[in-house]
Amino acid sequence: MGIFDIFKKKEHNTTLFYDTEVHCHILPGIDDGSPDVATSVNLVKLMQEMGIRRIITTSHVTESTFENTPETIRNAYDTLRAALDKEGVEMEIHTSAEYRMDEYFLNQIKTNNLLPFPEDFILIENSFLQPYWEIKELIFDLKMKGYTPILAHPERYTYYHKTPKIYKELHDYGCLFQVNLLSLSGYYHREVKDMAWKMLNDGMVGFIGSDIHNSRHIQHIKEYITTREYRKLEEKAANILNNKIQF
Ligand SMILES: [Fe+2]
Repeated sequence: MGIFDIFKKKEHNTTLFYDTEVHCHILPGIDDGSPDVATSVNLVKLMQEMGIRRIITTSHVTESTFENTPETIRNAYDTLRAALDKEGVEMEIHTSAEYRMDEYFLNQIKTNNLLPFPEDFILIENSFLQPYWEIKELIFDLKMKGYTPILAHPERYTYYHKTPKIYKELHDYGCLFQVNLLSLSGYYHREVKDMAWKMLNDGMVGFIGSDIHNSRHIQHIKEYITTREYRKLEEKAANILNNKIQF
């Protein structure tokens, strides 16, 4: 160790404090995330560099825009898996979906055509324009069917910010919350960041997800990991469930 080494900054974190990703759009060509298999392979490698060892993919399932089914999702996965194996990239991957609450979803529920997380968690989302009008009933129905609903990025539904008691109601109803790492880091609006941190401080965050769609998102997260604020996050979020899911 040279004399000048003592002036060097303390070594920064470069990896996440959890190794299970629960929200990302990395399957090739089936939603607004990765467009092709080469991009997908690259995203997986970048996630590996961040310390991710297990990935739950959550491709969009949305009426008219992305009408994916377990079959379209599994096919995209098979393409990715073959490419990863060819390159010798090791990554445990479970395929699931991010279900927009709409008529298409109701139909998939009715016909038992769902692709849940391991342990039957199911990731659901609202539109960013307005909440699903019967969200409480839907949460109740999913629970009756044995699923545990996880609401994706509740902090991003800014129409809820005016009536934050809705968060407590949904949480009390048995819906878990998955907050975006990109929200906590301030990638979106300031009020989204504030709400994400408030939820964390209130003990409402079950999962943290990246919601990665592209390498720009990963780059942003990589930089965030090196910040002092990230260390605070690590302490505050020590009890999240990401690593506890049994694959
Ligand atoms: Fe998403």
